[in-house]
Amino acid sequence: MEAFYNQLLENNKKWAQDKIKNNPNFFSDLAKGQTPPVLWIGCADSRVPANEVIGAKAGEVFVHRNIANMVVHSDMSMLSVLDYAVNVLKVKHIIVCGHYGCGGVHTAMTNKKVGLIDNWIRHIKDSYRFHKEELDAIKDNKARFDRFVELNVVEQVHDLAKTSIIQEAWNRGQEVHIHGWVYAIEDGIIRDQKCTLKSNKELEEVYQLASA
Ligand code: CO
Repeated sequence: MEAFYNQLLENNKKWAQDKIKNNPNFFSDLAKGQTPPVLWIGCADSRVPANEVIGAKAGEVFVHRNIANMVVHSDMSMLSVLDYAVNVLKVKHIIVCGHYGCGGVHTAMTNKKVGLIDNWIRHIKDSYRFHKEELDAIKDNKARFDRFVELNVVEQVHDLAKTSIIQEAWNRGQEVHIHGWVYAIEDGIIRDQKCTLKSNKELEEVYQLASA
């Protein structure tokens, strides 16, 4: 364990050297600032490294990760990332990326009590309740789990659209597209859930906030 920890700093030195070897301006360019066109909201799972799975370089993706890629409307960390991404960086695309085999989503399907995290998992259970009919009809456990992962992503895409930050951006005509993806750990391929939201008209009326 200690060896692994020490290796990380060694890896970093080697990585920095390699970057400079390929492009002497790599770090001095990045130091000038960032203009990433994409915000990624993903799971904290160690097997889904945001930049790596989409071949993005440093400076290309603004990232927020939490357990089960959730959009919780009282989460100041998520809201702050979203606000900065939309209002300062002006990202054009926001991707909510879930993944099959997600431990958080799986726990939400059960009555298991884990601890403090139960309060976070509770939000995922809402996604199950909204889609209970479809999910309960799937008899195969693995198929039901997979579908729950997908539906949870779609719910988070909608929850993002309902935030005051996205509502205000759309109301003033700022272009922001919100996408839902699911990554498969088994084959490394992302499945686009084709639930992209681009405007208020796609939301239920009660969630549409009036222009200021
Ligand atoms: Co996960």
